Amino acid sequence: MSIHFGVAYYPEHWPRERWETDAKLMQEMGVQVVRMAEFSWFKMEPQEGLFQFEWLEEAVALLNQYGIKTILGTPTAAPPAWMIEKNPEIQPIDHHGRRRYFGGRHHNCHSNKAYRVHIKRFVTAYAQRFAENPGVIGWQIDNELGNSHEDLCMCGSCRLQFQRWLAVKYRTIEALNDAWGTAFWSQGYHRFSQIIPPLITAAGENPSALLDWKCYCSDLIVNFAKWQADIIREYCPNQFITHNYMGFNQKVNYYDLGTLLDFVSNDSYPAGYWQKTPHQPDSEIAASYDVVRGYKKKPFWMMEQQAGIAGWEYMARAPKPGQMAAWAMQSVAHGADSILFFRWRTCAMGTEQFWHGILGHSGNPGRTYQEAKTLIQTFAPYMDEFEGAMPNPQVAIVHSFRQNYAFDIQPNHPELRYVEHLNKYYKALYEKKIPVDFVQGMDDLTNYKLVIAPLQYLMNPRLEQHYMEYVKNGGHLVLTMRTGVKDETNLCMTDMELPGRLGELCGIEIPEYDCLLGKKGGILYGKKEYVIEKWCDIITLQGASLIAEYSTSFYKQSPAITEHMYGEGVAWYVGTEPGKELMEDLMAYFAKASDIETLGAAADGVEMMTRESDDKVWLFVINHTRDEQVYHLHDRYTLLEGEKEEFLNPYEIQLHVKTKHKKG
Ligand code: GAL
Ligand code: ZN
Repeated sequence: MSIHFGVAYYPEHWPRERWETDAKLMQEMGVQVVRMAEFSWFKMEPQEGLFQFEWLEEAVALLNQYGIKTILGTPTAAPPAWMIEKNPEIQPIDHHGRRRYFGGRHHNCHSNKAYRVHIKRFVTAYAQRFAENPGVIGWQIDNELGNSHEDLCMCGSCRLQFQRWLAVKYRTIEALNDAWGTAFWSQGYHRFSQIIPPLITAAGENPSALLDWKCYCSDLIVNFAKWQADIIREYCPNQFITHNYMGFNQKVNYYDLGTLLDFVSNDSYPAGYWQKTPHQPDSEIAASYDVVRGYKKKPFWMMEQQAGIAGWEYMARAPKPGQMAAWAMQSVAHGADSILFFRWRTCAMGTEQFWHGILGHSGNPGRTYQEAKTLIQTFAPYMDEFEGAMPNPQVAIVHSFRQNYAFDIQPNHPELRYVEHLNKYYKALYEKKIPVDFVQGMDDLTNYKLVIAPLQYLMNPRLEQHYMEYVKNGGHLVLTMRTGVKDETNLCMTDMELPGRLGELCGIEIPEYDCLLGKKGGILYGKKEYVIEKWCDIITLQGASLIAEYSTSFYKQSPAITEHMYGEGVAWYVGTEPGKELMEDLMAYFAKASDIETLGAAADGVEMMTRESDDKVWLFVINHTRDEQVYHLHDRYTLLEGEKEEFLNPYEIQLHVKTKHKKG
């Protein structure tokens, strides 16, 4: 039986005498793996060069006796005080030029040389020590790289590295001056050594410089991870390497980071205390798992799956009975092969005292423990069967870190957020029970019947060509507002009307536009008027036909959404951000015109998703609501798990299977 369930465990927070009780309780619950030690540098190296791994070896061995394997974390997100005392320059500098000090976590610069030396010494000893340990199956590098690093680090070391990165990219300072448009506001440089990280300015910033900075920061983090991955690979060829991602978080390009890893892991807190609603909308959670699966086009692990109430200074809502299990199986439905709950036991100390685990502070098994146990007993056997199986969507949404960066730098409309915008398209499909893959623009798109490429703001000739060929060969493509505005260096393109060469593909030109600042607009689609938001491209038809027209402002009756046959396929252009209702109706039209199958029908809050092996399709139906629900499937499946066909109790998870028809 493979490994499917586990927990994050911190034996160092508890007396040694408790460990065996924990191991027993874990075993009874069905825990097969723990992640440990990702913040325990001080405990493992209390003085420079003095390694004390015995306590960890003891914990690993004890757990192993109970059949529980270990993933070890490298503790590089928390350099200890003695190290900071010796090398205070390790502490990062924020964009105000202020130091961020010891006392929390992530107080480390990623480029600092002294820090790299400490890491090399420690990770080498750590990897050597556990390479042959029968209890250890793999490694997690650092922890949530990019978390808490929004504007870090801008120290002297990072400045130098940034200059070098730019010199490699541009070769000459003239090329950089052109690419950054430094003719504006007297920003020209004579030498790379004059360039600084984007520290706080008196007024305004250069969008091209900022884009390079964000890409540089991502490269630096990947390089930081590689520094460790290389060591672990050398000494531990039989153990895997992974890292815990944060869904759509954009600080580090997760596609790039993924090249270092055997598989990607993810952390998810649907009811995190920072969420605007009691819990994150189901569609957003689902989308974040689909993008995580897309980073390596492979099943992934959930390294941290929310177990209980989430809290730091204040707390969020308690997961309702059954809700934690529904969230966990949602991860599985979207491609997770293993789920580790965060954390085993609620911590008595430190920042995360109120971050609740499987066990409460008291350490007594309660409701959460029972729910996790039931979940594992019910689903672990099936997970053995469909391990490695992938969803097989007919629809793809294009995702890009660079586009995300460009919109972080200039949202165009104050409320436009790249990921939120993608999520609006996703949600309409999700609610129609249509599975989705996230892909990169240059990926092979031929297997998708419908590709939605929102906000293709930064454009280049290769990507234009790629989209045009996809449609020419029969693909259905949706392009949207703010497409083709900028080149790869974040300068506005000037040689054609918007949307550049893709105008030929869409059969349109966009000579004018309107930013809907502080108001919503209207559109006429079919016979109905709908609300639109944020943006209006005022389109001129150049061969396309009109699908919807504006019903407000001076461009009333101008085309807003268009359709164009191109080669064997169709290109749609959506010149605005559709409001919820329009989005639903429009996506219904696109899906129908592209011949997309939906899995079934049910109310919002009932999720459907599939994973496929060579000969079988597993279908998950999950009730994310606290009400009973009914649903209908569009194909014949056998119910494997669940009380009643086409009926769901609150938070119930049902699993179905069908055998694939053999081709030919
Ligand atoms: C995650 C992090 C964990 C823990 C958890 C709860 O972001 O990886 O180490 O901090 O949140 O706050
Ligand atoms: Zn730095």
